[in-house]
Amino acid sequence: MLRMNYSARRSSLASQLPPKSIAIIMNPGPAHKTGDQDYDYRPHSNMLYLCGMDEPGAVAVIASAEQEIRFRLFVLPRDPERERWVGPRYGCEGARDIFGADEAFDIAELQKVLTDIVFPMDNVYFDFSQSKEISPMLFEIVESLRHRGRRASEGPRNFCDIRDILGEMRRVKDADEIEVMKRAAQVSAEGFMDVQKMLKPGVGEWQVEATLKHGFRSRGAIGESFASICAGGEHATTLHYAANRDILKDGDLILIDAGAEVDYYAGDISRTYPVNGRFSPAQKEIYALVLKAQKEAIAECIVGNHLRHPHERACAVLAEGLEKLGIISHEERETFKKELRNDYYFHGTSHYLGIDTHDVGCGYHRGDDAPAELVSGVVITVEPGLYFPSDNLNVPEKYRGIGVRIEDDVLITNEGPVVLTSSLPKEIEDIEA
Ligand code: GLY
Ligand code: MN
Ligand code: MN
Repeated sequence: MLRMNYSARRSSLASQLPPKSIAIIMNPGPAHKTGDQDYDYRPHSNMLYLCGMDEPGAVAVIASAEQEIRFRLFVLPRDPERERWVGPRYGCEGARDIFGADEAFDIAELQKVLTDIVFPMDNVYFDFSQSKEISPMLFEIVESLRHRGRRASEGPRNFCDIRDILGEMRRVKDADEIEVMKRAAQVSAEGFMDVQKMLKPGVGEWQVEATLKHGFRSRGAIGESFASICAGGEHATTLHYAANRDILKDGDLILIDAGAEVDYYAGDISRTYPVNGRFSPAQKEIYALVLKAQKEAIAECIVGNHLRHPHERACAVLAEGLEKLGIISHEERETFKKELRNDYYFHGTSHYLGIDTHDVGCGYHRGDDAPAELVSGVVITVEPGLYFPSDNLNVPEKYRGIGVRIEDDVLITNEGPVVLTSSLPKEIEDIEA
């Protein structure tokens, strides 16, 4: 199991909470699939970030800095009979010895113990996306405290969303995280290299998917960061095509968007390859344009810029190129540059990357909110694309049905952008070699 500097992260969180506050972090229970089967279990990203506890249903309580007991864990108790079937549990002892909890409790005691913890607090923080699981119990606790003692006035008054604090913390990766993210990027890249070796007309999109999955798992990844997109031909113009059930045709491109999840950190790569090994002239024109946009956007991944800077650069390059190719008019070019969404490029260029593929942190589509600056340690993707559906008669015929996206994972540093996925070729000559 991966061990990181969790106590430093918890101390940082504790020091950002106002006095008389606690934060409640909760792993979900198992997700039922069918019959007696569950989906593969995924712990909550905030829990992974703050202590690495990966058991279903575990609850962590982190107290503000002035409090003596800072870190409590509620876990499933040891149960030899059950463990004989499904494997060992950490139990309270493991919660203390392995995860460093100051106090550990049987999860069955959560409501009772939490009532006493919450009693002297002013503020309770939790992730509001988990309200369904956490709020009913919290409201019950607070209501019970209102009636404790003579005055109906005990207990906290404020529930606050922990995401504002944890979002910014998780946005900026520490040294441990950067090491893991380098591995996630490399394993992702190697999975793509496997695909390059087996691509040819007649191969099924599902076989490409299987090659990626094998490539990731056999190199120690947990699996895919998200459902792999293996989109042959026109399927590439559907942004999240993941059915992967068609056969690759001679003369078509395949757009692959996939990534390995390594120690719970995501890789996220897109490449577009000619199925038969050679781009057609029209495919080459579009590919070269997207590649130019991507490289220029990567150059904008510098400290002090915002997520919108790579996006604006990508849009400007694409707009200029599309005009040159006769796909848009001069007037449309100005609109293309200004609009965040266009007919042929309808998604953003970058998102944060980390424990989640679309990682937390204030992005660039948030109305008037000031977006957070890129600082050293932030990891983002850069993934421009162009998509021309075959039924769009505004597009010159030779480009219809082409979809291209090129995506790399970029670490922001004081010395400039570091492309974590740079081992995977993207130049036309290298792809055709
Ligand atoms: N595959 C999801 C993304 O690239 O954002
Ligand atoms: Mn992607
Ligand atoms: Mn992405």
